[in-house]
Amino acid sequence: MKPAIAKPLPILTKDDWLSLIPAMGRANRNLAEYNGRLGRLPNSDLLLAPLRLQEAVLSSRIEGTLATMSEVLQFEAGELPERESRREDIEEILNYRVALDTAMQELKSRPFNLNLLLKLHSILLKSVRGQNKAPGEFRRQQNYIGSRIGGVERIRFTPPVWSSLAKSLDNWEAYYHSQDEAVVRLALIHAQFEFLHPFLDGNGRLGRILIPIFMCEHGLLSQPTFYLSEYIEEYRDDYIDHLNALGTSKNGWRDWTEFFLTAISEQAKRNIEKADSILLLYESLKQRFIQAAGSKYAVPLLDAAFERQYFQAAQLEWKGNAPSKPTLMKMLQTLERNNLVQMYRGDAGRRAAIWWIPELTTLFDSKR
Ligand SMILES: Nc1ncnc2c1ncn2[C@@H]1O[C@H](COP(=O)(O)OP(=O)(O)O)[C@@H](O)[C@H]1O
Ligand SMILES: [Mg+2]
Repeated sequence: MKPAIAKPLPILTKDDWLSLIPAMGRANRNLAEYNGRLGRLPNSDLLLAPLRLQEAVLSSRIEGTLATMSEVLQFEAGELPERESRREDIEEILNYRVALDTAMQELKSRPFNLNLLLKLHSILLKSVRGQNKAPGEFRRQQNYIGSRIGGVERIRFTPPVWSSLAKSLDNWEAYYHSQDEAVVRLALIHAQFEFLHPFLDGNGRLGRILIPIFMCEHGLLSQPTFYLSEYIEEYRDDYIDHLNALGTSKNGWRDWTEFFLTAISEQAKRNIEKADSILLLYESLKQRFIQAAGSKYAVPLLDAAFERQYFQAAQLEWKGNAPSKPTLMKMLQTLERNNLVQMYRGDAGRRAAIWWIPELTTLFDSKR
């Protein structure tokens, strides 16, 4: 298969644009509604922490990473996974959060550019596994996208030759900041990025993390918390088929864009529901924590624990004064008797106990 030849963005024809107007309208409406919902969410950093993590887990899962959200949270609480490969999965998932935070920090002082893209790539691929994948560097060799059918690896797509990348990426970066309608621009930015496949690995994860970054930078969202990977993972075959069809089907780019706009519309609705159900659970836990613990530390404890889901007593970060250790232990035991927290792992020797909030974890398990 000969390497594909990239066209400069925006690629869509005038008729394509016209035919996409209804899908554009729906995507913008639903996105605006979700953004409005975010604005009314109290304590949104805290409440959205689980959703952020879920996005990182699902974005990695699309390409076969197996670790679950609970395993990541348990790891952060100090529980080591049994197998080394699982630990690498977890590290890659945690890289997502560092990359997103770095991007938001850097965007405060300058617009998105290819240097930031390289930096994000090096953060995402920071692991034992990523070392030989040229983290932080555009590729200087041909790559292939394969798929395994009946145990045989088959090449499905051959991205453009590497010597053409510099020019295509300049066009890509310029188009990122162009004046075209934002949601369509985002659809094209993602697809062209995957088409160019500028890195040896990590193109999928990097392409997906750009979605909340772009939305935030262009004012579609007030915070980088748009989680598309749930939809993409659910419709993974369609996602891949549409990417495959970009260069080969007559309406490939138009059809991809429509698929992507629908994904945004649908996921925006789900994100609203998720934000609502987290808020509902938080409010209910708050009442019950206060009732059971009867202490001024009840809500600070809930807040500190909510962010981690799994935690050791010493890991909790307190906004105001921290309770003494005996007070905290007594409170945890009372909450445990009321089934509000549970001990995930008891203490043994120098290993501290790990606690968790089962209802919070269940909220995400049942959604998966
Ligand atoms: N035919 C295709 N054309 C363009 N991009 C594709 C195609 N098939 C899959 N992709 C994209 O390539 C990604 C996988 O590339 P890879 O560099 O291994 O990323 P990662 O390591 O993050 O999974 C998929 O998640 C998808 O976004
Ligand atoms: Mg990969």
